[in-house]
Amino acid sequence: MPMNLSVKIGGLVMQNPVTVASGTFGYGAEYARLMDVNQLGAVTVKGIRLNPVPGNPTPRTAEVTSGMLNAIGLQGPGVDGFIKKYWPFLKALKVPTIINIWGTTVEEYAEVARRFDALGGVGALELNVSCPNIKEGGAQFGTDCKLLAQVVSACRQVTTLPLITKMSPNVPNIALLAKAAEEAGSDALAVTNSFPAMAIDIHTRKPKLANVTGGLTGPAIKPIAIKLVWEAAKAVKIPIIGMGGIQNADDAIAGGGGHPRVHGQKEHCRCARADGQRANYKSKIEVRI
Ligand SMILES: Cc1cc2nc3c(=O)[nH]c(=O)nc-3n(C[C@H](O)[C@H](O)[C@H](O)COP(=O)(O)O)c2cc1C
Repeated sequence: MPMNLSVKIGGLVMQNPVTVASGTFGYGAEYARLMDVNQLGAVTVKGIRLNPVPGNPTPRTAEVTSGMLNAIGLQGPGVDGFIKKYWPFLKALKVPTIINIWGTTVEEYAEVARRFDALGGVGALELNVSCPNIKEGGAQFGTDCKLLAQVVSACRQVTTLPLITKMSPNVPNIALLAKAAEEAGSDALAVTNSFPAMAIDIHTRKPKLANVTGGLTGPAIKPIAIKLVWEAAKAVKIPIIGMGGIQNADDAIAGGGGHPRVHGQKEHCRCARADGQRANYKSKIEVRI
């Protein structure tokens, strides 16, 4: 008999607890020729704001020891461009879509949430709060409990879709922010986003990224991500989607304070499921810390 790995996040039902990290899997369609996207628990797409965003100049990725830096600059087609170009593919999938959204004002987050609520058929919204607030001198929404609560609650007021708050790791006490997101109406947390970092090309003696700094992701951040998941999990009752350096089933299980999210490879999601069987898990992958 097939094993039941399904999980529920608010009203979002996933056939298994594995999805992909926003920004590492395009809008799903790009990966459809490499894998059966319908094997995932959900497809999480690259961040969308209201209007199109050109992104940063290149080079905007760089390999570093045990990970990578990126400074894509949240390039994207905007809400209308996304709906026109990518939604037809996503809405035809058997698995739900989690749309990662962002803005530079609380009002913009709410407007993007309202637009996706009105679209119909969206699985959940993930709020990327690692973005500068232009009304508050560029401070990140996700580093201030009050601002974070404002974003979550503004979105909560305009949509009944499940809300997942994607936490910033650049905070002294993630527990306080996790609690603020929960109290403002978030159905789940995603932990964690990338870590600010920089790399130098020793031949040119210049930064490897045109943007100078970027976000560090990959295996290098896994132990830090696990600690953040643990700290957040102690503070809230809502589920946590754990991510950061998950490359295989063992990583996913180790980081299983919530539902593991892999960095966009077919083998990874298969591996996670196969490992669940190997370890005789009865339902979802579950690790108690
Ligand atoms: C190229 C790239 C683009 C990303 N774009 C987004 C994004 O648009 N929104 C977001 O919330 N996170 C974004 N992230 C962060 C990832 O979703 C994830 O939190 C981070 O990469 C840690 O997981 P990993 O170590 O498995 O890559 C991006 C990461 C990478 C590498």
